[in-house]
Amino acid sequence: MKKIPVIMDCDPGHDDAIALVLALSSEKLKVLGVTSCSGNQTIEKTTYNARRILELLGKREVPVARGRSCPLLNDGRTAAGAHGETGLDGPVLPEPVAPLREETAVEFMAKLLEESEEKVTLVPTGPLTNIGTLILSYPHLLPKIERICMMGGSVVSGCSDKGASEFNILVDAYAADIVFTSGIPITMMGLDVTNFSTIGYGEEKEAFRNSGHVGKFVAELVDFFGRLFQMIGWPGAPIHDACAVAWLIKPEIFESRDLHVEIDLNGENTYASTVADFHGLSGKAPNATVCLKSDQKQFVELLLDACKSYEREGAVR
Ligand code: BDR
Ligand code: CA
Repeated sequence: MKKIPVIMDCDPGHDDAIALVLALSSEKLKVLGVTSCSGNQTIEKTTYNARRILELLGKREVPVARGRSCPLLNDGRTAAGAHGETGLDGPVLPEPVAPLREETAVEFMAKLLEESEEKVTLVPTGPLTNIGTLILSYPHLLPKIERICMMGGSVVSGCSDKGASEFNILVDAYAADIVFTSGIPITMMGLDVTNFSTIGYGEEKEAFRNSGHVGKFVAELVDFFGRLFQMIGWPGAPIHDACAVAWLIKPEIFESRDLHVEIDLNGENTYASTVADFHGLSGKAPNATVCLKSDQKQFVELLLDACKSYEREGAVR
């Protein structure tokens, strides 16, 4: 089977970790590299977490490069409330053995694009700082990007202290604007779909815990990341970032519409929101495939199968 070459750009992060679990187990994807971005925690912490996750998954051969330490124009912000002081509080993780790449994330992405004979899909699951920088710095490489399949935004409702916006876009709205005006095909997994793509707290979570060492890791991630959502009565923990990977593996799980989406950079209460033209009234052509709904059961099944596949592979523990 011909695999889709992807670069995972992430800020692990509990749901980023589950996105990596899914991507690195899929027969449909070839992960060329992992690049870190700052977001859920500082760049030092998210980079260290990415390396620890690869070690746990027995994927030392997958290269990791470190991203920019702050957004393009504004100050950074982290999400310690959701992901803890380490950015990945909860499970115990092994120390990484594989060295970090010497290039920056953006240099490394450019190198991978240059060297690849096929077009490459970028899968950002954190703020879009690295991707925005790549687009500005290496415009000649844009034709080598097949698609940006990202987690971020929401076209119906937001979920951050800036009411209408979503965390990844809010952290670096200018980078998001560069991405959405780049002309590169985009798949957008916003909160509209990811908030409902959950692992339930009861039987569902326990099925992961009992499925092997990677499933246990996922259950422990959900134990920590899910506690806030459980407190507010949600039936499960939203596994936002894994949705972007799931769309590449099994797009039929999702319902989507092609829409024109713009980033609001001026609004007082709507700053960093992803404004979608649902009725085509702007006259502007769609720039994103916006996912609006998922089949939660199939999503969980895909994640659980991914966890089980590591046991078959006999990954390092
Ligand atoms: C996004 O914000 C982060 O906290 C998660 O990792 C996810 O990428 C959801 O709004
Ligand atoms: Ca993330």
